[in-house]
Amino acid sequence: MTDDTRPAREWSRRIWLQAMGLAGPGAGLSAGIAPAFAQVIEPGDAWASAFRPFDGPAFQGELRTGSLAIEGRLPAELRGCLYRNGPARFRLNDSRLSHWFDGDAMVQAIRLGAGQASHHGRLLDTPKRRQEEAAGRFLYGGFGSTVSRPRGLRSPDELNPANINLLAMAGGKRLYALWEAGSALDLDPDTLASRGWKAWSPETAGAPFSAHPRVDPDGTVWSFGYMPGSGKLLIYQIGADGILKRQAVRELPQVDMVHDFAITERHLVFLLQPLVFAARADLRNLLEGMRWNPGAPLLACVMSKATLEPRLFELPTGGVFHLGNAWEEGDTIRLGYARAESIMALMQQLRVDTPAAPQEPGSSVWTEVSIDVAGGRASQQMTDLSAIEFPRTDPRRTGLRHSLTVLLQRGPTMDPRVFGFDTVIVREGERSQRHAYGSGWIAEEHLYVPHPHDTREGAGWVLGPAYHWPSGKTTLSVFQADALAQGPLAQVRLPYGLPLGLHGQFVAA
Ligand SMILES: [Fe+2]
Repeated sequence: MTDDTRPAREWSRRIWLQAMGLAGPGAGLSAGIAPAFAQVIEPGDAWASAFRPFDGPAFQGELRTGSLAIEGRLPAELRGCLYRNGPARFRLNDSRLSHWFDGDAMVQAIRLGAGQASHHGRLLDTPKRRQEEAAGRFLYGGFGSTVSRPRGLRSPDELNPANINLLAMAGGKRLYALWEAGSALDLDPDTLASRGWKAWSPETAGAPFSAHPRVDPDGTVWSFGYMPGSGKLLIYQIGADGILKRQAVRELPQVDMVHDFAITERHLVFLLQPLVFAARADLRNLLEGMRWNPGAPLLACVMSKATLEPRLFELPTGGVFHLGNAWEEGDTIRLGYARAESIMALMQQLRVDTPAAPQEPGSSVWTEVSIDVAGGRASQQMTDLSAIEFPRTDPRRTGLRHSLTVLLQRGPTMDPRVFGFDTVIVREGERSQRHAYGSGWIAEEHLYVPHPHDTREGAGWVLGPAYHWPSGKTTLSVFQADALAQGPLAQVRLPYGLPLGLHGQFVAA
């Protein structure tokens, strides 16, 4: 069952508690939040305005619509549910959270089928939210917020808002909301009700489980967990049946913040950035304890799936949140990632309490990496695609050579006072198609949905939401994957705005 005798649970609790000394010792509802949209929104407030309706007492934790207005025609074969997750609520009475990563999670479910669409959104029920609502205030600073009189932590999951991503298994019968420094939260896929923390094994109960697990074409789920300051990665291999096949702990450098990774047919690939976390008694949140180590290399860590033994390869210094798909060509591993010089400045910018400050999303460049595993060398090539993020590819091709990568880009004409992205890109080889939403729009992650009967990547669709801040409303757009530049096939209009979220998954019906 396990190939490591050190119980993951023990190190997870110990390291976390040590690190967290820093934490201190439906339509009717849409009518209820409508007054917020009557305000005139300035460009500098556009991003923050998406969250405001969920901070007030009018929001009771759930939004639901019947059949929504659609412009154009939804493809008949596009049937299923787009689930998205993200921080939504930042205010509790007079208490506020300031960092985007810390808000209470809201999961959105946009159901598509028979040419129709509906929306259901629900604030997730977590122990953190229950404790804080009982106290009438926020109790934990979390990643980057500061609260007065923080409560001491007994376990990582007391801090866990489950607000980054989702993992669907068993054809969508199982759904988990993911954070990255605590457990996965088991959700009912139909009602979005929380069923409690998922323990993949007794040893890993309460241990961190990443926000970016990767799923092999056979349904095997690979994931990892890290805790700032621990110097260790916890690796999970979970069968398509949901049973944990293997867990292992590996000691590695530069694992104080590992947000994403990639898999190939035979390997796991991590990009370990020179970000250092140092716990101090006076820290009020994790971000205060993080420092960038300028000039230190980005380390590509390759683990054989068979042995999980790590090999390290040096790349030029840089930072990373998200990797694209990876694949093998003989003994060479290829992958793309969104490369930043450093991610510190971006993390410090992601605040929801300073809406008037000019904000930039950083200048991440789509960068292609080649790792010669046999020869012990790695190199990278920066492409001409800059100001990009949120890479997504065909989920059927995870770990295999793929052709299309979907990205978001901050277009050159986007108002500098508005934070975020306004353009969707489909990249194929060195060619890119674009769709710019235009003035007034902030695009969220767009993902690739395969055609159910046609295996060609171009036959699938690209879909994702965008928030129109002057009207305070969200639209879901559906594009033909190989004809993005022709504009959306269909646009689903929601009667309200959704909080700008992080990641989503599509579950085909
Ligand atoms: Fe992410």
